[in-house]
Amino acid sequence: MTYSFSNLSKNIRRSEIREILKWTRKPGLISFGGGLPDSDLFPLKEIADITKEVLDTKGYLALQYGQTKGEPEMVQALCQHMQEFGDDAACENVCVVSSSQQGLDLLSMLFLDDQTPIIVEMPTYLGALQAFRRHNANMIGISMDNDGMKMDELEKTLSESEKQPRFIYTIPDFQNPSGITMSVERRNQLIAIAEKYGVPIVEDSPYRELRYIGETLPSIWKLSGGKNVIMLKTFSKILFPGMRMGWVVAEEEIIDKFVVLKQSVDLCTPSFNQLILASYIEKGMMKETIEKAKKCYKPKKDAMLKSLEKFMPPGVRWSKPEGGMFLWVELPESIDTKEIFMTAIEHDVAYVIGAPFYHDGRGKNTMRLSYSFPSLEQIREGIERLAKMVKSIL
Ligand SMILES: Cc1ncc(COP(=O)(O)O)c(C=O)c1O
Repeated sequence: MTYSFSNLSKNIRRSEIREILKWTRKPGLISFGGGLPDSDLFPLKEIADITKEVLDTKGYLALQYGQTKGEPEMVQALCQHMQEFGDDAACENVCVVSSSQQGLDLLSMLFLDDQTPIIVEMPTYLGALQAFRRHNANMIGISMDNDGMKMDELEKTLSESEKQPRFIYTIPDFQNPSGITMSVERRNQLIAIAEKYGVPIVEDSPYRELRYIGETLPSIWKLSGGKNVIMLKTFSKILFPGMRMGWVVAEEEIIDKFVVLKQSVDLCTPSFNQLILASYIEKGMMKETIEKAKKCYKPKKDAMLKSLEKFMPPGVRWSKPEGGMFLWVELPESIDTKEIFMTAIEHDVAYVIGAPFYHDGRGKNTMRLSYSFPSLEQIREGIERLAKMVKSIL
């Protein structure tokens, strides 16, 4: 049988990272690979208790089809959660989705046609690149420095674009993969530039709540007064990814579009999961869990930075994140992190190669290190192994 597939499916590429991470199952290997939350933080007993309570009191709703926009309890609880972290949004501005990856998928369906120009950061989240690539978007990259996306470059690109980009995609808080946070000044500049050129901003912010040092910065959603911004949020990093729960925040007109598109994708996000998490937030447990997560991740981040300082040879540079789960390492230009990946595996340590985080595959000398999952001891030992390997190659 010769199958004839759609153009859309032809644009799908297997994730290079998932392929490469297969090697990380080697016994004794320390992996700084996937961006997994520490599973010791998962509130197993609390979720078990709430699940029983939901089944006992609202089982008839929990096991039924739900509303596409989200269960009213959940939408309300999400507004409460956002308010606790400085973001105001009304229920009309929220649509529950099956995690941020679905948000990115719906966003792509809503805005992208073949070769539609969009702006992305360099580097940026690989899953977003995959979603945009599937729709054959024409991605235009903007470089970053320690304060986030470079606004002079963005303005120049927009002023010279023949076809107006449909949106600007940014991860302003502790970016995946770089760990960089966009400064407040840049956020305000971004809002002004986006307004000037009439281009919406997509603010993808899974790590925002996980700040370990310094002051929380206002979201772009908040700074813009909720205009011209679509914000993507998820429980995957601040609680756990297993329930695949996230939400989109935007102007009502955009939320309506998301709802109609979502209907055609999965009818609704599981009501059962929504009622459990709504109750978790209402009981004030979400805030407690985030505090615990911060206490767990801060020493891990510090340990990774300290070990890099101690063991890495001159010529290697890395970002110094104030939150989130990742940091970004740049090796000398002559080193290709993909080529040396198997040498790292031989040294019983793994990282994620940097090039797939660039829409055009540059950044061959870069790598992403995640510190959220390994233990403190593994972080120290793993960075020492990595540094030993880098030294031997240099
Ligand atoms: C920036 C960013 N957006 C979206 C996602 C997708 O997360 P999820 O689909 O688990 O909510 C991730 C996951 O790593 C991410 O880092």
